[in-house]
Amino acid sequence: MGKIGRNPSVNRSPVGEIPEAIRERPQLAASRSFPWGWLILAGVFSLLTLGAGFLLTRPNRAPDSVNREPEPVASPALENVLGHLPYEEAAPSQLKPITADGYLKLRAAAAEQFLAMQKAARAQGIVLAPISAFRTVEQQNQLFFAIKQQRNQEARKRAEVSAPPGYSEHHTGYAVDIGDGARPATNLSPQFENTPAFRWLKENAAKYSFELSFPPDNSQGVSYEPWHWRFVGDRDSLETFYKAKSLPPAQN
Ligand code: DAL
Ligand code: ZN
Repeated sequence: MGKIGRNPSVNRSPVGEIPEAIRERPQLAASRSFPWGWLILAGVFSLLTLGAGFLLTRPNRAPDSVNREPEPVASPALENVLGHLPYEEAAPSQLKPITADGYLKLRAAAAEQFLAMQKAARAQGIVLAPISAFRTVEQQNQLFFAIKQQRNQEARKRAEVSAPPGYSEHHTGYAVDIGDGARPATNLSPQFENTPAFRWLKENAAKYSFELSFPPDNSQGVSYEPWHWRFVGDRDSLETFYKAKSLPPAQN
């Protein structure tokens, strides 16, 4: 047998091309012929490529300490109806008359300042005539819906000049509609802007802590009302109109 194995004619067979020492150890023969080195190198290269790809494509993550910061909370939507904000009705005991017949009333602090302002204006020949002051929710209900029906108006149109019930500054007892006593034709009209009374108010109302609620292009989208003024001269009135309402101060 050994003799035959060394015979050159036999060694020309495919088996014979494998050296004898290796023929007996097929595994070793395979390891010598397969390019393991290249395979390992390719594997390492693939792993490095995958790792780099992962690092480059993963989303940017802030450090853990930053992740623990509270998420910003979106401001709650401002409660409003057709641009008007909700207001509570003042109690009768909080109101004081601003007319001789006692029909028109404001909250005590607002009433006192309104009367002082009216007196100062009168001393300069200006008649500040109060047209409307405190209104109950029921009165506003009539004003909004009865006139809306009378004028055949849609709610959105009516709300441009009148607040829906529960949403009028007049409920608070801090708001007053003012006319020029010498020019009643301009009452509750944009023309009031051209009266001496309005010009006087523009110059002097802030001294008595009154401000225009609905200046031109106001953030509530209510029509310009040069006659409608509100008192913001103490903590309660200021909070009533500005606290947590995210409204910029009225620009007069
Ligand atoms: N005219 C104002 C908006 C009101 O009705 O309160
Ligand atoms: Zn008004």
